[in-house]
Amino acid sequence: MNRLKVALLSGGTSSERNVSLKSGDQVLDALDKTKYQIFRFDPKFDLGKLVAEAKKIDVALIILHGLHGEDGTIQGLLDLLNIPYQGTGVLGSALAMNKMVSKQIYEQAGLLTPPYQVFNKGENINTDQIIGKIGLPVVVKPLKGGSSIGMSIVRSEKDLPYAMDIAFQRDDTVMAEKYIKGIEVTGGVLGNKEAITLPVVEIIPNEAYEFFDYSAKYTPGATNEICPARLSMPLTEKVQECARIAHKALCCHDYSRTDMIVAGEDVYVLETNTIPGMTSTSLFPLAAKTAGIPFGQLLDKLIELCLERSRGKM
Ligand SMILES: Nc1ncnc2c1ncn2[C@@H]1O[C@H](COP(=O)(O)OP(=O)(O)O)[C@@H](O)[C@H]1O
Ligand SMILES: [Mg+2]
Repeated sequence: MNRLKVALLSGGTSSERNVSLKSGDQVLDALDKTKYQIFRFDPKFDLGKLVAEAKKIDVALIILHGLHGEDGTIQGLLDLLNIPYQGTGVLGSALAMNKMVSKQIYEQAGLLTPPYQVFNKGENINTDQIIGKIGLPVVVKPLKGGSSIGMSIVRSEKDLPYAMDIAFQRDDTVMAEKYIKGIEVTGGVLGNKEAITLPVVEIIPNEAYEFFDYSAKYTPGATNEICPARLSMPLTEKVQECARIAHKALCCHDYSRTDMIVAGEDVYVLETNTIPGMTSTSLFPLAAKTAGIPFGQLLDKLIELCLERSRGKM
């Protein structure tokens, strides 16, 4: 049998490079070598090689996060090279990468998202006015960040300027968002015309962590991830429906994972990940496994969905 030639893209230049390389190793490990011949590319070094070898590639698996990986740029390059790839295209990737644009789209789609204000570098920032409008605590985050990098929770007005500085080190535009106290959950969607919502994952960082920050995300044992989440059936369905609406509103393809906070009966949408973490223990693979789809089969499914779409295009 002719094996499918897969370009596995991981690494890249964003602040999530190490996470991506780790995901790439595990994806390589889990891919069925009887079905796939795998060629690995690290966009930090190998873009020229990818262009040169494009003709021999059947499909790309983009296991990159953040800028120049999850934001539509690499997707645009692959479109130009006529290489099908799993997941969301240029438009949806760019929309989902920008937390302000995503929130505007969530609101238009009838989803609830925490109140916020956005600031550009160099702008005069009036902390009084921010606290007056949003209240305390406030979450400060770079607009196009990921993995909680550059993010802080501010509980006292005097700490706001420092939190802004930290976020501005990562992005020219920064968001101050109302902190929502509640149960943190994430909802996966898998598929296109017949998309399914996966079991919801509940996220509980242990007491050493103030929130689901970079080390809570990537230190083994730092966070308790419970799937299915301990929510009532109606709330579970509401969370899944929010994930499905966010996926559709942001023009996502194949899969996505939307982060949310449940406060009472309300579900606040924070953001949508178009290339969710892909180590075998990451949140999306955990949800898929709970739905009866082991990691290797999940990768098969993503490749299948992508090829189905690319055949539809032709
Ligand atoms: N408005 C908020 N209220 C409460 N916690 C938040 C809020 N925004 C972010 N967080 C916390 O910070 C984490 C990362 O925020 P998120 O918006 O998902 O950005 P990232 O792209 O870095 O994952 C969340 O998983 C959550 O723990
Ligand atoms: Mg998140």
